[in-house]
Amino acid sequence: MSRLPVPRVMIVGVLAAALGMPPARAADPPREPVGARHAMVATAQRLATEVGVDVLRRGGNAVDAAVAVGYMLAVVFPVAGNLGGGGFMTIRMADGRKTVVDFRETAPRAASHDMYLDAAGRVVPGSSTHGVLAVGVPGTVAGLELARSRYGTMPRAALLAPAIRAARDGFVLAPGDARFLQRSGNGLRGDPAAAAIFLPHGRPLAAGERLVQRDLATTLERIRDAGTAGFYRGPVAERIAATMTAPDGRRRGLITQADLAAYRARERAPVECSYRGYRVLSAPPPSSGGVVLCEMLNILQGVPLRSWGRGSVRASYVEIEAMRRAYRDRNRDLGDPDFVHNPVAHLLAPAYAARLRSGIVARMTAIPVHARAGIPGDDALGPTGREGAQTTHYAIVDRAGNAVSVTVTLNGPFGAQVVAPGTGVLLNDEMDDFAVKPGTPNRYGLVQGEANSIAPGKRPLSSMTPTILTKHGKPVLVVGTPGGSRIITGVLETILGVVDYGLDIQQAVDAPRFHQQWRPRATMCEAGALPAETRRTLESWGERFTTVAPYDHVDAILVGGPALGRAGKGGNRLFGADDARGDTGLAAGY
Ligand code: GLY
Repeated sequence: MSRLPVPRVMIVGVLAAALGMPPARAADPPREPVGARHAMVATAQRLATEVGVDVLRRGGNAVDAAVAVGYMLAVVFPVAGNLGGGGFMTIRMADGRKTVVDFRETAPRAASHDMYLDAAGRVVPGSSTHGVLAVGVPGTVAGLELARSRYGTMPRAALLAPAIRAARDGFVLAPGDARFLQRSGNGLRGDPAAAAIFLPHGRPLAAGERLVQRDLATTLERIRDAGTAGFYRGPVAERIAATMTAPDGRRRGLITQADLAAYRARERAPVECSYRGYRVLSAPPPSSGGVVLCEMLNILQGVPLRSWGRGSVRASYVEIEAMRRAYRDRNRDLGDPDFVHNPVAHLLAPAYAARLRSGIVARMTAIPVHARAGIPGDDALGPTGREGAQTTHYAIVDRAGNAVSVTVTLNGPFGAQVVAPGTGVLLNDEMDDFAVKPGTPNRYGLVQGEANSIAPGKRPLSSMTPTILTKHGKPVLVVGTPGGSRIITGVLETILGVVDYGLDIQQAVDAPRFHQQWRPRATMCEAGALPAETRRTLESWGERFTTVAPYDHVDAILVGGPALGRAGKGGNRLFGADDARGDTGLAAGY
C-alpha cells in the first residue's frame, strides 16, 4: 500500500509561475514550526504578524491583536486584507466563552435575483466579479469594532495606530508583496483611483518600492476617531456611495449611504462537532465552512485513517468521497440563515454521517481492483442533506489561552479592483459568492442552488472556515486558510495531518493537498498530493483527477508541542506555521 512518508510542498515551477507563487520549492527541506513560550501570531503578511505580537507583548489579549492585525492587513496585504470586504472571526476565550463574529457583506437593498443576467437569461461575463456592480456592502470595520468592544481590552486608537502609520508613511514592498501587484496590475489599471495608488508610475509597484496610501490613512483615522460611524456614515460612506453612481463603462453599482448605515456585524454561535476527542468550533452559515468541515469529519471519524495511512488507497478514497458528499449538501442546501432554513442539525447528525459513511465504505469494498466502477452518480451518493481567491487567514493565541481564528476576504484579488476615490478603500466583489444564476458555476466552479440566490440584504454563502480545536476546554489548534471553495478541504487536511497522521504543524500546513467539491467531478490535486500508485488505483476505480497549481495559504497554531503528543523544547508551548506556498507570511511569538 502506498503511503506518503515525508510530506513536502512540491510547488512545480511552471504552475507556480502561472499562479504568481514563489519559485519552485520542491527541493526545500521540511521546515520546523516556530515555537514561543507565551503567545503566537501566524498571518500571511510579516508586518501584520509583528503588529499582532507587539499588541500581545503590551498586554493586549488575542482579540486586541486580531483587531490590530485586521486593520494592518488592510494596509500591507491589500490583495485580500481590507476595510471594504468582510469575513468571520471565531473566538474561544479562556473563560469558556465562544462566538463567531459574522461580518460578511450583504447584498444592497436594490439587489435582485437576476441582476447579473442579460435579457436572454445569460450571466453577463464579469459583471459579478469586476466593477462596482460586483460590490457587496462591506462588513470588516463593523466586525472588527464589534469584536474589540465586546472581547478586547485596548482602546481603538492603540489598535489602529500601526495601520495608520503604515498607510501614511508607506512600507517597502518585499518580493512576495510585489508579486501580487505584478499579477493583478492590469485589473487595477482600469480604475483610476486604484491605479494612482498601486501603479503610481504607470506600472505596478515593484519589490523595493514604497507603497504609500494617504487616503487610506485618513479613512483609518476617521475610524479611530468615530468608530464604525467613521466608515459607515460621513465622508467615507458618501464617497463609497458616489463611486457606485459613477459610470463604470457598462453598469452602475447599487450601494447607497442607507445600505452602509444599515450594515450590522452579527455574533453567531459557532458550528460545533467532536472529532477523535477534540471539540471543533468553526464558522456557521452564512459560511458553509463549519458545516461542511464537520460533516466531513463526522464521516471520517468512523474509519481508521491512521492505521490505513496517509495517502493510502483506502484513506484517500474515503476522504475524497466524504468531500464530494459534504459539498453536494453545501451547494444544494446552505445559504444565509436569515433568509433560508439551513438543515444544520440534520447534516451534522451522527446518524446522517453513518449512512453516508456506510455508503462510501460499501462502495469501496465492492470495487474489485481495476474494475472501473466509475465516479458515483448523484443517486449513488447516498441520502441528501435535505430534511444542506482572494482571501487571507490569521491565527492568534495569547498567554491567557484566548484563541482567535480570523478569515477575511475581498473575494477576487483586490476584490472588484475598484477603489472608492478619496478613501483608499478597495471594494470587494463578494456578490459573486451568491449563486448569480442557480445551477451555473461561479468563479470557484461551485454550482449552487436557490438557497444561495440573491436577495436584498442577504449575505452570500461563504466557504471561510476559521476554526479552533479544543480539548478539556483549552485551545489545541487554531487554523484556517484562503482558497475560495478549497478553503474547507484545506482546513480538513490540516486537521487530519495533525490529528490522524501525526504530522507536526508545519508539515501538516505544507503538505500537498487535494480537493473535491462535487462539481466538477474530478478531484483537484496539487503535485505530490497522492502517491502515484494510489492515484493509479483510484483511477482504475473510476476516480478522476486533475493536477492544479498550489492553492491555499494556511496559517495555524498548535498548542502544547510541535505535534500532538510531542513536548515543546526550551519552554516553548505554542507552535506556529505559515504556509510554504506563500513567501509573505510569518509565524512569530514571544
Ligand atoms: N469569497 C470566498 C468565500 O467567502 O468563500
